Amino acid sequence: MGLVDTHCHLQSERFAGDRDAVLQATLEKLDWIVVIGDDIPSSEEALPLLGPRVYGVVGMHPYYAKDCDDATYDRLREMAARPEVIALGEMGLDYFNEYSPRDVQAVAFRKQLDLACELDMPIVIHNREADEDCYAILAEYAPRLAGCIMHCFGSGPDYAEKFLDLGFYISFAGNVTFKKAVDLQEAAKIVPLDRLLVETDAPFLAPVPLRGKRCEPHFVSHTADFLADLKGVDRERLARETTSNAHRVYRIPQPTP
Ligand code: NI
Repeated sequence: MGLVDTHCHLQSERFAGDRDAVLQATLEKLDWIVVIGDDIPSSEEALPLLGPRVYGVVGMHPYYAKDCDDATYDRLREMAARPEVIALGEMGLDYFNEYSPRDVQAVAFRKQLDLACELDMPIVIHNREADEDCYAILAEYAPRLAGCIMHCFGSGPDYAEKFLDLGFYISFAGNVTFKKAVDLQEAAKIVPLDRLLVETDAPFLAPVPLRGKRCEPHFVSHTADFLADLKGVDRERLARETTSNAHRVYRIPQPTP
């Protein structure tokens, strides 16, 4: 079994010139990938890319919470009805870039959580420097959630523990490989193998040794290998476990060996 990129933005304009080639190279190397939206246009742009081994997630990033109205949630509901759309997100809170006021972010977050509960779909969370509020809201919804991924995890081991206690999955992107990411690496050490995921967040955050380049989904192998070494498990096993977790949380049937 190979690897999965559980979170990338292949619809990004950074891939405008060579998207087909990147997708082809990716599908030669990975089992499957997830293309995720940040707002309505980027969610819509993801749809034509979906098909065999390419799944979609639609949602409103907290940056764009101020743009949300009733039509936004209606459109998300429509897109979520497509069989290749497997979750809602990325949604959450971002207090590092407060492009939308905090109370407005919370409203958009809760609206999407309500929709996920209603549709019984897993969710993908963006949380940046908002641990306390993000945890409080998610703890309230946790018993009703179909599944939850803390994407591009950016907190320390204390919050990793708290989100694990809610039954969530923790996903690491290329920034865990950065030399100064000590707190993040400490968090990765405590995440059990059956709750660990890997992602690229491409085109962002290319892992070492490709740091600074435009990130492509198949770069996820560098992050996976780094995590295997960090956790002291062999690379094959880390790939097997994270891919099996991705099947479980996104509810994609696993091929029988
Ligand atoms: Ni993302």
